[in-house]
Amino acid sequence: MQKPVIAAAIALFILVVAGGLFLALSKEERPSETAELKVYFTCDTHGRLEPCGCFTGQLGGLTRAQTWLKQNREPNSLLFDIGGAIGGEQDYHVIQYGYILQAYEKMGYQALNLGAGEARLSAKTLKEATAASKLPVLSASLVDSQSRKPLVSPTTIIEAGGRKIGLLGVLDPRSVPSPGDGLTILSLDDAISRHLPTLAAKCDEVILLAFTTEAEMKRLAEEFYEITLIIGGDVGQASQFAQEVNQSLVVFTTNEARTVGEISFKRRGEVLNKQDFDIHMLYPDVKQDPELISLSKDFKKYISTASLEVDNPDRVDPGAIPGVTSTAHYVGSQSCAQCHAEETHIWKASGHGHAFKTLVDRGSQADPTCIGCHTVGFGEPSGYQRAFGNSKLVDVGCESCHGPGSEHVQSWLAGTKPSFEFRPLGPGDCKSCHHGEFSRPFDWDIFWPKIAH
Ligand code: HEC
Ligand code: HEC
Ligand code: HEC
Ligand code: HEC
Repeated sequence: MQKPVIAAAIALFILVVAGGLFLALSKEERPSETAELKVYFTCDTHGRLEPCGCFTGQLGGLTRAQTWLKQNREPNSLLFDIGGAIGGEQDYHVIQYGYILQAYEKMGYQALNLGAGEARLSAKTLKEATAASKLPVLSASLVDSQSRKPLVSPTTIIEAGGRKIGLLGVLDPRSVPSPGDGLTILSLDDAISRHLPTLAAKCDEVILLAFTTEAEMKRLAEEFYEITLIIGGDVGQASQFAQEVNQSLVVFTTNEARTVGEISFKRRGEVLNKQDFDIHMLYPDVKQDPELISLSKDFKKYISTASLEVDNPDRVDPGAIPGVTSTAHYVGSQSCAQCHAEETHIWKASGHGHAFKTLVDRGSQADPTCIGCHTVGFGEPSGYQRAFGNSKLVDVGCESCHGPGSEHVQSWLAGTKPSFEFRPLGPGDCKSCHHGEFSRPFDWDIFWPKIAH
């Protein structure tokens, strides 16, 4: 009875010991693990040094990203921006971009990539704007149309966790159908092939900062096996998880500075082990960093006295149809009150009737990135100008929606029916201001009754 049991026990013992020995040996032969590398990333900041505050419950802003990073960022980690940091193409956007680049320095970014917004600037403007940054600003894609030379550094190498990390920045030409004057955008494959072999030879890992679509990021991972990590991009939504494609990890985010992405990974030989991936939402309860708020104040102060193209009254209305000059001009909501008392009464009580005071309360009354939707006709020849201060064309006036009213007023004052009627309005007219980060989701059936007149 006992013997088979003892024999089985001995057999088991031998098996365990031999197995253990085998495991120990094979462990020796396995390539050693490298340390974990943690990378944080942002994309599509779109001028959001701080959130505009157009509705309560609004997410994001670099001011919140900074607080989040100060609380959560791990030592020896990396932080990159994938591009699209600029808010637009106007001169004041370029000035604001300068402050955003300063913010990235203060926040401890290691490198920035150039995205679609930046590539809409002229070569000259972009070069000047990025030259002021102490951080490496990367793009292997953007070259001077004349010299074909890269506009900024295509690559950079940084040290992290005892390893050399090569960074390569690219931008998909399809993201920018009409690049700025003097700029050419190389194809992704061309931009990468020019620099990847030399970079990979010098580094332990290569990270690609790629302002492009999810499909393209995956294709690049298939095409170029030397890349450890691809971070994007030009996407509608942040990634749900880190995707393993060929020998690379692919992750991305977007959303006007509403998120910070986080990925950590380590390498065991050729095998990439993803450890952790997360997209952190910058909810309203994340406090705004005082240092960056003060940087934003500096911008507002500077911009209030800077002379801008939009201040030039002779400036041609960019929206005007060539060859057609509008004969009517803006006269202000007070001019309408004398005949439309009922409408004026309702309007005054609505938010539109004090939209400029809202800006004054925030010290943003001279900030051209705000004025457009909080005044009448800003940027048009007869519209609101910053020099006007608290003039008749402040607030979302009657003419912000109905259009310039001088002819209408003159005709009715003279007792004749105007030769034209104001065009009928609908939801599309509201959405010119009530969109994206500037409004709660717009629904005509909810919004119109609140201001109906
Ligand atoms: C694209 C148009 C647009 C721009 C540009 C814009 N706003 Fe607004 N703003 C709106 C709209 C629309 C609302 C109302 C949103 C709603 O009711 O959901 C609003 C509301 C606000 C409110 C909230 C008013 C309240 O009491 O609820 C504040 C504050 C504000 N904006 C500040 C700013 C600042 C500061 C800027 C510039 C950084 C700015 N806005 C730029 C369209 C704009
Ligand atoms: C020129 C830009 C602009 C247009 C066009 C515009 N809005 Fe607004 N809207 C604003 C701004 C700015 C505010 C915030 C005003 C504030 O409180 O400072 C606002 C606030 C509101 C509010 C919340 C305040 C309130 O009184 O209840 C409603 C509702 C609203 N808009 C409805 C509409 C509708 C409906 C349309 C289209 C018929 C429209 N808006 C068109 C800029 C605009
Ligand atoms: C936020 C946009 C907005 C503002 C501001 C606004 N309106 Fe209107 N208004 C509309 C819309 C939308 C309608 C209804 C649809 C239409 O008739 O086009 C309308 C309708 C009217 C009508 C009736 C048109 C008709 O055919 O019966 C008059 C008159 C009018 N508005 C005058 C004014 C006056 C005066 C002011 C300023 C005190 C003003 N509106 C401010 C959007 C606006
Ligand atoms: C001297 C009087 C007078 C003034 C000032 C005046 N209106 Fe009118 N408006 C009228 C009359 C009369 C009508 C046609 C009857 C009606 O719908 O009440 C009218 C009609 C309208 C309509 C309906 C559509 C159309 O084109 O007929 C809108 C919208 C409108 N006015 C907006 C405005 C706005 C905006 C202002 C200020 C820029 C303004 N009105 C100033 C007298 C005036």
